Amino acid sequence: MKALVLAGGSGTRLRPITHTLAKQLVPVANKPVLFYGLEAIAAAGIEEVGVVVGATHASITEAVGDGSAFGLRITYLPQSSPLGLAHGVLIAREYLGDDDFVMYLGDNFIVGGITGLVDGFRRDRPDAHIMLTRVSDPRQFGVAELDARGRVVDLVEKPQEPKSDLALVGVYLFSAAVHDAVARLTPSRRGELEITDAIRSMLRSGLKVRSSLVSGYWKDTGSVADMLEVNRLVLESVEARFDGTVDEHSELIGPVVVSHGAVIERSRIVGPAVIGQDAHVLDSIIGPNTSIADKCRVFGSEIQHSIILPRASLEGVRCVESSLIGQDVAVTAAPGVRGTHRLVLGDHSKVRIDV
Ligand code: DAU
Repeated sequence: MKALVLAGGSGTRLRPITHTLAKQLVPVANKPVLFYGLEAIAAAGIEEVGVVVGATHASITEAVGDGSAFGLRITYLPQSSPLGLAHGVLIAREYLGDDDFVMYLGDNFIVGGITGLVDGFRRDRPDAHIMLTRVSDPRQFGVAELDARGRVVDLVEKPQEPKSDLALVGVYLFSAAVHDAVARLTPSRRGELEITDAIRSMLRSGLKVRSSLVSGYWKDTGSVADMLEVNRLVLESVEARFDGTVDEHSELIGPVVVSHGAVIERSRIVGPAVIGQDAHVLDSIIGPNTSIADKCRVFGSEIQHSIILPRASLEGVRCVESSLIGQDVAVTAAPGVRGTHRLVLGDHSKVRIDV
């Protein structure tokens, strides 16, 4: 069995972060969300992985390399533009051959891995197996309709009037029978080749399409609020570790990770929180639910419920919360100019200011 990981797409809801970084590489507890998926694939005993990449291919290939760090053999499959999930399968046709495969959306986060699912598929050999979960607003997802016996009878991508609250989770298992269905697809109203349409056509052809409910936690990390929630959830299970330097005037409360080379001075870190390698925290209060990446500087500031990417700095800024701050960003106080704000913001930035 192989895996096909979709790590292309444009990540518009995470702009401006995604202008320079693939959305699948936004870190959760200082580890890219994509890495959790690759680890789950390796844990399920799969070694050969095709990774579909788009405009952000350089950052993905730099971060993931040949996959050996995960115990995987990775082949990159360039996608000219994000023409849909089923288009990802189409361009992977030759790579996948006639093997069964698990398709994993690179921005999805699943607690509990996929080992049980993969083992079940190997045992029962349906033509497709989809995972479902109940959601409050199904209109944002692919939605499944089940009959009284729990069999899938229909699937619709992002319906205006959903027939159920069962959303498709971004992990799908397929036999080679999916390729015929994909080859017959035409673009949907939103101009994409939809994998939901391919599975629907498999149903119509009488092929075996099975489903199961996700037992653990699942999240599509497409938006800032989703990223912050997944970060909070993952941080809840971190174990305290101090590999850096903490001076005697600092206080660490609850589960806090201080990575190698990090320096904490005259500060309070409220766990759960992670402080990345070579980060420097001075006269600040950090946490809870906060990830500070490698080489960040936080001086005279307060931040909670947030993710800060590598090399960003906060200086003299109080009350930062629920924020996602990009690589190399500098946020500083503007002394002497009370009541005004000085901003240099990239395209698509979003700033909320207390006025
Ligand atoms: O997260 C679950 C949902 O994922 C399902 O409920 C939907 O049925 C499914 O269509 C999908 O919806 P999204 O709108 O969330 O898909 P998104 O465009 O965010 O793409 C998912 C991943 O696949 C993401 O990592 C980017 C990648 N991708 C996407 C497209 C459209 C590609 O690599 N190539 C593409 O052409």
